[in-house]
Amino acid sequence: MSEVNWPFRRGSTMSIRSAQGVYLETSDGQQILDAAGGAIVSNIGHGRERVVEAVAKATRDYSYVVPPWLTPSRQALADVLSEHWLPPELSRIHITSGGSEAVESGIKLALQYHAAGGERDRSLILARVPSYHGTTLATAGLSGHAVRKRGLESALTVFPSAPTPYLLRCPLGRNHPDAGEYYAQALRQAIIDAGPNRIAALLAEPITGSSGGALVPPDDYWPKVREICNEYGVLIIMDEVMTGFGRTGSRFGYQHWPFVPDILVSGKGLAGGYAPLGGVYASEAIGQAIDQSPFNVMFHTFGAHPAACAAAAEVLTIIDEEQLVERAAQQGKRLAEKLDARLRPLPWVAEVRGRGLLQAVEVVSDPDSLQPFPESADIANRIVARALDHGVFYYGGGTGEFRDMVCMGPAFTVQDEHLDTMAEVLAQSIEEVCG
Ligand SMILES: Cc1ncc(COP(=O)(O)O)c(C=O)c1O
Repeated sequence: MSEVNWPFRRGSTMSIRSAQGVYLETSDGQQILDAAGGAIVSNIGHGRERVVEAVAKATRDYSYVVPPWLTPSRQALADVLSEHWLPPELSRIHITSGGSEAVESGIKLALQYHAAGGERDRSLILARVPSYHGTTLATAGLSGHAVRKRGLESALTVFPSAPTPYLLRCPLGRNHPDAGEYYAQALRQAIIDAGPNRIAALLAEPITGSSGGALVPPDDYWPKVREICNEYGVLIIMDEVMTGFGRTGSRFGYQHWPFVPDILVSGKGLAGGYAPLGGVYASEAIGQAIDQSPFNVMFHTFGAHPAACAAAAEVLTIIDEEQLVERAAQQGKRLAEKLDARLRPLPWVAEVRGRGLLQAVEVVSDPDSLQPFPESADIANRIVARALDHGVFYYGGGTGEFRDMVCMGPAFTVQDEHLDTMAEVLAQSIEEVCG
C-alpha cells in the first residue's frame, strides 16, 4: 500500500477512521481523547451535523467561484464576522485558505499601506522569539522557531526581532514585577536598532502558541507595545491563528488587554477544522489607503472557498449560540487547576501556564535552575508518544533552546471528566519518560 503522508517521519503514521465530539477513533477501533483539538483547531468538536449540511449545501449549489465574487456562503461568513466577531476598528475582511497565507497577506497589506503613503522604505517586519507564523519561506523566516527553520536557513530572510515575554525565564528574575516594562523596552530597542523608519509592522501572537508553550505576557506589556508602535509609526499585525475565535476564553486573544491591533490574522479555529480557511482583517484606514493606490491585493485560487466559508459561518454561529467562548474560559480555568494540582508536584515540571483552553506544561531536568533536558533526549516528543499509547493526544511544543513543552487545546465542549483524564495521563506520561 502506498503512503500519502510523505512529509512526516516513517513510523509516525496514525490512521483515523472517524471522530466524534472530543474523540478520534483509529482504524483498529482505539478511542483517542483529542486533548489538542488536532493542531489546536477543533473548537466545537467533531461530527457536528449542521456544519456538514452547510458544507454539503454550498458544494451542491456552487462548487468553485473566483474569490473576489460573492456567494451566499461568503456573504454569510462576512456578516457573521462583522456583526458578531470583529471589533468595529477592523472593518476590512480578506479570506484566505490557511494560516500561513493569512499571515503573509497581513504582511503584504502592511507593506502596501506604507507604500501607498509614500513610505516605501518601511520594508522590514519586526518579529519575536520564540514565535511561529507559518511554513512559507516568508513566514518561516519571521518565525522565532529554530527547529522549523532547520535546513532552510540559507534561503530565509533574516528579520529584526525582539524577545517574547517569558516570565519564567525573564532575565530580571522569575515572574519579575518589571517584566512587562523590560520586554516592552527590548522591543523599542529592536525598532531603534533596525531603524524606526524601516519597520512596517510588528508581527506577534498575543499569547504565544506552541513555539513558546502558551506564554502569557504580563498585563502591562501589550498596552506599552501599542504606545511604542504608535510612536514609531509601526503597525501591529496580531497573529491569532491559534488564539482566535474563543480559544483563550475571549473572542480574540488580544482582547485580554486594552488595545486594538491594526491587522488581525486568523486560521485554525475559524472553520473549526471542518474546512481549511484563514482570514485577515484590517482597519478602514489601511483598506482605504490601498483602495486609493494602484496596488492589487492578489488572491490565492482557493482563498475564501465557498464550502469552507459555509463551514466557518456555521461554526462561528454555533460558538455563539452555545456560548462556547465563555465555556472555553470556564473549562480552561478548571483544566489549569487540575494540571496545577496533579503536575506541579512532579520534580520535572517548571510551569503550568496558559489562558482559557490553550494550556501548556514546560518540562525541565531541574526546576530550580530551569536547566532543560538535552535536546537529543527529545523529551516533549517522547511524552506525546507515551501519552498516545495511553489514549490521549497532546501537542508537542517549544523549539531550540526553549524546549520540552506539551500543549493542550481541546474542543470548548470538553467535559470535566476529560479534563481529569488529560491531567492524569500527562502526569503519568511525564513520570514514565522523565523518571
Ligand atoms: C500562530 C500561528 N500562526 C500561523 C500558523 C500557520 O498556519 P497554517 O499551518 O494554517 O499555515 C500557525 C500554525 O500552527 C500558528 O500557530
